[in-house]
Amino acid sequence: MKHDYREATTVVHGNHPKNAHGALATPIYQTSTFVFESAEQGGRRFAGQEGGYIYSRLGNPTTGQLEEKIALLEEGEDCIAFSSGMGAISGTLLSLLSAGDHIVSDNTLYGCTFSLITETLPRFGVEPTVVDLSDDAAFKAALRPDTKVIYFETIANPSMKVIDIAAVAAYAHRVAPGCVIVVDNTFATPLLAKPLTLGADVVVHSATKYLNGHGDVVAGFAVSRKEIGDRIRMVGLKDITGAVLGPQEAFLILRGLKTLQVRMDAVCRSTLQVVAYLQQAPEVEKVFFPGLADHPNYETAKKELKQFGGMISFEMKSFEAAKQVLNHVRLCTLAVSLGDCETLIQHPASMTHSMCSREEIEAAGFSDRLVRLSIGLEDPEDIIADLRQAFAAAQA
Ligand SMILES: Cc1ncc(COP(=O)(O)O)c(C=O)c1O
Repeated sequence: MKHDYREATTVVHGNHPKNAHGALATPIYQTSTFVFESAEQGGRRFAGQEGGYIYSRLGNPTTGQLEEKIALLEEGEDCIAFSSGMGAISGTLLSLLSAGDHIVSDNTLYGCTFSLITETLPRFGVEPTVVDLSDDAAFKAALRPDTKVIYFETIANPSMKVIDIAAVAAYAHRVAPGCVIVVDNTFATPLLAKPLTLGADVVVHSATKYLNGHGDVVAGFAVSRKEIGDRIRMVGLKDITGAVLGPQEAFLILRGLKTLQVRMDAVCRSTLQVVAYLQQAPEVEKVFFPGLADHPNYETAKKELKQFGGMISFEMKSFEAAKQVLNHVRLCTLAVSLGDCETLIQHPASMTHSMCSREEIEAAGFSDRLVRLSIGLEDPEDIIADLRQAFAAAQA
């Protein structure tokens, strides 16, 4: 699926859908099921001999318009909407993997994805190998000719590691030809990176974050070529998770998406200003941001990302200092999640990654001194002033 518009136009118009009665905004088709004109027609739809809707777990016109827009943005043939990012991730992995299969995953992942891969999948006979995929030798040693899935995040949560998607895909498709590369593009969004164009096979998203962008919806997507998409929809969504996105939520994401380009541009600009402040703040030990020349994956980030994103992690001198910063911010909002209009601050070791052991956290390259910031749409000077007063209060 491809068209000629630039992205700032695509996020507003999608594929120029024609709505009933000339409605400008996408109507919310609040219906669980769809009426057939005859028994024959129902039979044909179930047999796949005729297009048209059947039942909202299998497809809905509001959700369908959203899926089409996301597929355009990611340059995929197919997109399946889920009721959460974890729904999309589990629906995808459970569609692609069976007992006896092998998955290679990066060692820095959103905490719930990490436990799905390392704890839940083994309960169903899937064998995981967890490595640092930015380490070429470690990746090549982990990959087997029969590896079925490779899984990682474009910008990894929370260390901001950036993996060379093109290099991983080229090697994996040669050595393990049946292997499907799944990339979580939540932190980057399709406006900063397009994993499918670099060789990935499936892109998953937590649309709860930037794609919706307003902190009022939980949702997810899986984008891929048609043949994989059919499997994810007809197995992972229809039969296994049933984690279907409702039309009200789809409407809200369609609305949020219209401003994705302007939001991302503003957030990326402000983030550079906040990073510059954090780098010289005496209270901060280390800043994790892929746009810094001393970031270990800076060269990959420059090649792979259009802009460096809106996520920053930084390490304080102690766990206590990190905690006190969280307790003293006034403007930055103490909450998990990311990609909202509000700047959000959280402590990965005790919150989003609390299911990881100390050893797993160390292997992922961070510690309990790490604080994560999702920069919002406030004036960056106000965000900086808030952090400055929180650092001073945390020292007192
Ligand atoms: C990178 C990443 N992927 C997936 C998820 C899961 O998404 P959801 O909370 O929408 O299920 C999150 C949640 O924070 C995340 O940060």
